[in-house]
Formats: sequence, structure tokens, C-alpha cells
Amino acid sequence: MARVLDRGARGLFLSPQKTIVHVVGARPNYMKIAPVMDALRGETRVRQVLINTGQHYDESMAGGFLKELQLPAPDRDLGVGSASHAVQTAQVMTAFEEICVADRPDLVVVVGDVNSTLAASLVAAKLVIPIAHVEAGLRSFDRTMPEEVNRIVTDRLADLLLTPSCDANENLRAEGVPQERIHLVGNVMIDTLRRHLPFASLDRVRDRIPVGDGPYAVLTLHRPSNVDECGTFRSILQAVRHLASRMPVVFPVHPRTRNRLAEFNLEAELDGTIVTEPLGYVDFLALTSHARLILTDSGGLQEESTALGIPCLTLRANTERPITVTEGTNRVVGTRTADIINGCDQALHSTASKRIPELWDGRASERIAGVIGRFLFG
Ligand code: UD1
Repeated sequence: MARVLDRGARGLFLSPQKTIVHVVGARPNYMKIAPVMDALRGETRVRQVLINTGQHYDESMAGGFLKELQLPAPDRDLGVGSASHAVQTAQVMTAFEEICVADRPDLVVVVGDVNSTLAASLVAAKLVIPIAHVEAGLRSFDRTMPEEVNRIVTDRLADLLLTPSCDANENLRAEGVPQERIHLVGNVMIDTLRRHLPFASLDRVRDRIPVGDGPYAVLTLHRPSNVDECGTFRSILQAVRHLASRMPVVFPVHPRTRNRLAEFNLEAELDGTIVTEPLGYVDFLALTSHARLILTDSGGLQEESTALGIPCLTLRANTERPITVTEGTNRVVGTRTADIINGCDQALHSTASKRIPELWDGRASERIAGVIGRFLFG
């Protein structure tokens, strides 16, 4: 009771509560927003609202993560689902605009680089609502990636650019972003990883995923440039088959990838690979944190591998996370069969010591809460 009165008194006589709207929509968003909301929870001058766009909607891609990461139930679920880029972006914009007009938030927080990030930023900017972008400044310099377009536009519109690493600051400065908008806070994904690592014992997945007692590899693939093109997809899977003859390879399959495997009739290429449904956050962390090698086209997994000290091969032509290569355990090897096999050999034989980038220390969300607090309350 005393607390409620105290809160009311603050609201009446000091500053009124300010509303922060957090936007999530796709699998890689949940682990970024969870620690930020947590860090702001003690700030009584703030009311936090969580909007889930529903860009991802399978329990294994969305709902399960919300629960596992102990995010509050979303205040609104926009239920947009899958569609073309323009339709998906437009549907998020239409529904999110209604919320912003009704609620007039003091700040919209967006994370990462998915279509929901871009859509929410466009809406907020047009309504002159300040935007904080968590994971600002990353660039692959490859505009054929839809995420690169999302990153560039979101950063152009954001008022608070919360960056994970120095290279992101340099990119923003080179684009002419005023220095006072850029805040190097570190990598918020690593906050979530550190919090859950103590629970990520391999025993929790052994009954479903028979990795045995020796070394094994983990594979993820979902980029349209890899899985929507039959030749590229086949070339990757041929290298995976080669690796699977040396050690177990576990492949949790993203829904897009599952559809393409069937469409291109590539299932036979997975002979010897342990195929699973998409895994929950801690189960997947259990698997990756004990792996000998990770092969991926995901952005987040490049960072997680670096934080875990596990060798990673990125099956793409480039990365927007170069610090995982210069300081971490990542190698960008492309998608040709021979290059991937060669990359596996080098990674399995290398002993080069690697370091964890500055501010990937599990406290990025505290720094974000600090920047947001100063922005809202001075
Ligand atoms: C999106 C993001 C990508 C991110 C990825 C993580 C964009 C442009 N892309 O790509 O940056 O790395 O999420 O997964 O925002 N599907 C389902 N159930 C789901 C979600 C998707 O079946 O819950 C299927 C649908 O067939 C859908 C396809 O997967 O068409 C692709 O989903 P979509 O959200 O368009 O993009 P992702 O490839 O997941």
C-alpha cells in the first residue's frame, strides 16, 4: 500500500510516469528485449508496454521464447504473420500506428534488424515519438540483405543509437550521425546468454538429441540467399554431409528452411545429420555451448559463438558483425562446398586464442537503462 501511495505521489508532484513501448516480433528480438525490460523494471517513473507484432507466430519461434525468457505477456499482439516484405511491414505499421496514436508513448524501443523493427521505427518517426534502437550501427554493406535496409533506415530515424561494439560507432559516424546520439553500451544478447548459461547443461537435451559423448557440430540456416536458392542450399548441405561423416551434426530446422528442403527435394542430403524442430532458448544454448563447431548464417549465433569461445563458420559472403572475426571465433567462409570443408578443417585444428569483445560483459542492459533514464528524465 505504502508503495502505491509513494508511486502516486511521485507521479503527481514530481514527474508524471513516462511510457516506453517495446516492440518485438521475430525470434531474435526476444532475447534482446528481455534484459532491457528487466533493467528498467526498478524505474518507478516508467510504465513499460510490450507489443508483439506476431511476425513469427509458431510456438517454437515466438510464444515459447516469451515464456522462457520471462517476458511479461505482451500488452498487444498485432498478429501480422508471414507475408511479402511490403505487406508485412505495412501491416505492422497500420496496427502499431493505432497504438501510438492512442497511447502517445514517450519512447519506442526497437531491437535488431527485422521488418518489425523498421515498421515500428517508421511509425514512431512520423508521429514524432523518440526512438531507441538497440543493436544500432551494424552494417554488412550488402543491400541485397533485407536486414541491411532495415538497419540503415532504422538508424537514420533513431534518436538513441545503442551500439554493441566500436565498429558500429564508426559506421554511424561515417554516415554522419551526430556523436551525441551514439551510445556504446555493449551486446545485450550476451546479457541473456550469461543469465541462462548456468541452466544449459547438455543433459537437458540428450534424450531428444543423440549427440553422444564426443565432439559434435551445430548447424543453423535460414537466410533466403542460402535456402531459397536450390544450388546454394545443395552446396551447403554437401559440405554438411562431409562433416557429418566425421562427427554428429545437429540441425534445428527453421520453418522457411523446412519448406525449402521439401520443395527442392533435398532431404536426402541430410543423411547422417541429426535433424530437429527449432529449439527453445536454453535447450539451444545447451547444445551450442558444448559444441566443437558451429556453422550458421544467423547474425546472433556469430556473437553467441564468440561469447562462448566456440569456433564458428559463417556461411555467407559477408558479416555485419566483423568484431566476431577480428576478436572472436568466427570465420566467414561463404557457401561453396570446398570452402566450407576447408573452413571446418581449419577451425577444428586451430588453437588461436580469442577474446571476448569489450562490453560483452552481461551488463549492456544496465547501461541501456541508464541512457534511457537520462534521455527521459535528464
Ligand atoms: C526473419 C528476419 C530475419 C531473422 C529471422 C530469424 C526479416 C526481414 N527477417 O526472417 O532477419 O534473422 O526472422 O528467424 O525480418 N514461418 C513459420 N512460422 C513462423 C515464422 C515463419 O512457419 O513462426 C515460415 C513462413 O513460411 C514464412 C517463413 O518462415 O514465410 C519466413 O518467415 P519470415 O518472418 O518472413 O522471415 P524469416 O526468414 O524468419
